[in-house]
Amino acid sequence: MTDGIRIAPSVLAADLTRLGEHVAQALAGGADWLHVDIMDGCYVPSITFGANMVAALRKLTNKPLDVHLMVVEPEKYIAPCADAGASVFTFHPDATRHVQRQLAAVKERGMLAGLALNPAAPLALVEDVASDLDLLLIMTVNPGFGGQTYLPGSDDKIRRARELLAARGSQAYIEVDGGITAQTIGQAHSAGADTFVAGQAVFGAADPAREVRELRRRCLVTV
Ligand code: DX5
Ligand code: ZN
Repeated sequence: MTDGIRIAPSVLAADLTRLGEHVAQALAGGADWLHVDIMDGCYVPSITFGANMVAALRKLTNKPLDVHLMVVEPEKYIAPCADAGASVFTFHPDATRHVQRQLAAVKERGMLAGLALNPAAPLALVEDVASDLDLLLIMTVNPGFGGQTYLPGSDDKIRRARELLAARGSQAYIEVDGGITAQTIGQAHSAGADTFVAGQAVFGAADPAREVRELRRRCLVTV
């Protein structure tokens, strides 16, 4: 789409017994990216999947695969994810020591580089690498599980993130992740987000394609 909005359904909420069907439905609704949540049971309590899921999705679509690493030592996943066909590689700066080095390594492997901030993580954590970022992910829930409720303090943080990036001359996308639904997407968009992860809202819906279209519509009416 050319409206500056990216809807990224999270396959965490898809029915893995019919992954291909669920992905096709999301794409039919105009999904721009597919979001892949890699969790290691260490950075967050849950364990999900690894680069093998990226490779499986790559067989299903040419759309960008937006990989979100909720793992310790995310640097170990850069090469496997790149080889599997990942397009965006986003990690948490509090999960590794040399953040700027890893951002550079991600780009060297041809992926867009993103950093993700938990609700309690201050924007100051990314301030000095703003010019290295292709994407800033503002977590709007605490990571680890799908289907949680959008935290109300998120709008203000998105606004401050937008200001920080503008002040640093950064064109990075601002992505939001957690509790994004037809009810909450408008406020996140108004606050300055342009990229929207949605798991339960899309794949928990009777008609995922329709839900993707509805999420986009809700953004466009809140311009
Ligand atoms: C949560 C993950 C999210 C999750 C979002 O830790 O990072 O990407 O899939 O799920 P919903 O949209 O259901 O809150
Ligand atoms: Zn995620």
